[in-house]
Amino acid sequence: MTAPDPRSITATLADLRDPETGRPLAETGQLSVGTVDASSLTVELRLTTHSAMLWKPLRARAEELLRAAFPSVPGVVVTVEPHGRPPLKIGQIGLEAKSVIAVGSGKGGVGKSTIAASIAVGLARAGSRTGLLDADVYGPSVPHLLGLSGRPQIDQGKIVPLTLAIGGGDMPVMSMGFMVPPGEAVVWRGPMLHGAITQMLRDTAWGPLDYLVIDMPPGTGDIALTLSQVLPLTGAVIVCTPQDVALLDATKAIAMFRKVNIPVLGMVENMSTFVCPDTGKRYDIFGSGGARRTAQELDIPFLGEVPIQIPIREHGDAGRTAANYEDPASRPFLEAICERLVAGLAAAAAARPSLPSLPVL
Ligand SMILES: Nc1ncnc2c1ncn2[C@@H]1O[C@H](COP(=O)(O)OP(=O)(O)OP(=O)(O)O)[C@@H](O)[C@H]1O
Ligand SMILES: [Mg+2]
Repeated sequence: MTAPDPRSITATLADLRDPETGRPLAETGQLSVGTVDASSLTVELRLTTHSAMLWKPLRARAEELLRAAFPSVPGVVVTVEPHGRPPLKIGQIGLEAKSVIAVGSGKGGVGKSTIAASIAVGLARAGSRTGLLDADVYGPSVPHLLGLSGRPQIDQGKIVPLTLAIGGGDMPVMSMGFMVPPGEAVVWRGPMLHGAITQMLRDTAWGPLDYLVIDMPPGTGDIALTLSQVLPLTGAVIVCTPQDVALLDATKAIAMFRKVNIPVLGMVENMSTFVCPDTGKRYDIFGSGGARRTAQELDIPFLGEVPIQIPIREHGDAGRTAANYEDPASRPFLEAICERLVAGLAAAAAARPSLPSLPVL
């Protein structure tokens, strides 16, 4: 048996793209062929932490392509190593983030904050550097959902965010809830609201981020406008329940995001079904599948659903929303949403007209 030609290996993987830039990995120097002989074939992919959510599926895809192309080689191994590519400063506020994702809805109480926190935690768990901004200035709930309290310190003129320890890293979290004593109402006018959001974005020591996830208040009009003026948002995720009234509000929210030129990245159906823990019987309390249908009608990606689960509410109340990932009944739903979200960003990057080739460093 002869060993495969390294060039044919690269050719087999020619369609694999860097999820962050959308450019072929073989062209950007992020793919190298290691051992090649009649019994083994190793390939290394170098990917950024921005696409950490997709490392596993990309590795699996590369192995599948190689096994199909070289069926006589028994030992096909693809490894992924981190590839450094720091974020650029975006907007006039100097935020260092690759993607800024707002999580909104039209209706209150549909689980925006729970989903926003869960998306941030999911991305951070996968290895992406993620921050979470609670833009619900009047009713901040992120501190409570994540069990964070305390007043942020000021260091060298910057607000030091509170952090949540996730998988060996610290996820920065900023909320008006850290600034105002619990139980006290915030009474602000529109311009002050604008100032508060801008300040939390600009003056927080976020550090370089792959993702900044923003939990939006219900209604979203004012804050969405402020955000769209202050920085280029990557897009918005819309959360809704399958109820007609929630879907109607979600449709309005989508129109509003589009009006301020914020792309809609997809829709999440929360509280989709309830499976009774005692009997296993399904109850569609708010209906089911409505968000998927609405997403289809509006030509928006459907990112997934989260059933009504008592532990999700319990974890939220106990400040342990991150623990939803430890629950095998919740984790697959939440991970699927994060994966589809990042896959959507990758597809958008791949569809962008390609830039002139950069030199490989
Ligand atoms: N899938 C779910 N299963 C069970 N409980 C849930 C689920 N999603 C959210 N909840 C609970 O519903 C309540 C409302 O959720 P959350 O605060 O995330 O909604 P919201 O849309 O951010 O509300 P608001 O409009 O007030 O900002 C919380 O108690 C939360 O724990
Ligand atoms: Mg909320």
